[in-house]
Amino acid sequence: MRTILSGISLCMLMLAGCNQPPPPAPAPAAPPYNTTLSLKQVMEWVIDPAADVVWESVAIIITEKGENAKAPKTDEEWEKVRNAAATMVEGGNLLMMQGRARDDKKWMASAKRMSDAAGIALKAAEKKDVPTLFDSGALIYNACSACHADFRVGEPAPDAKPAATAAPAPAKSAK
Ligand code: HEC
Repeated sequence: MRTILSGISLCMLMLAGCNQPPPPAPAPAAPPYNTTLSLKQVMEWVIDPAADVVWESVAIIITEKGENAKAPKTDEEWEKVRNAAATMVEGGNLLMMQGRARDDKKWMASAKRMSDAAGIALKAAEKKDVPTLFDSGALIYNACSACHADFRVGEPAPDAKPAATAAPAPAKSAK
């Protein structure tokens, strides 16, 4: 009798097991991101130098003799621009990481905007398309500025007390 019962319950267990969806996989542990760089360091050491490479790669120089376009010439020069743009495409992701993102709406949208604008520069560099590369510079600049405006970068914190004796603070370049 015992064996039959336990046989039955084993059967039921197996049936139940078969009918139930598999248990949800345990949530993956957070990846071991290295976030030792502060946001300011990511800006000054990763994003800003990369943006400078893109911005400085193209220019329209107007002289007495007329207009001159400055643009990458060699494959190597174009690759440098492409790589800097790629750094910014991925840099947007760095800004979205937990511990760096300041909210989940405006911040994320700004970081994506920068990443997308850099993506246009990246494609332009791959195609050696000077006018598009030039235009992407403005898109990138506007993306930086929009986030800096939203998060009041370059402005004193609301509770910052003016230093009585300090010389006027040098204007911060809020690019
Ligand atoms: C998603 C928001 C966001 C985007 C996009 C962004 N920044 Fe920033 N940036 C910040 C914040 C916030 C700080 C202030 C960090 C701090 O002081 O802790 C900052 C600081 C800086 C600084 C340091 C100078 C200062 O005034 O503190 C530089 C330089 C800078 N950003 C350049 C750029 C450039 C160039 C781009 C675009 C290519 C860019 N940033 C895009 C949010 C952003």
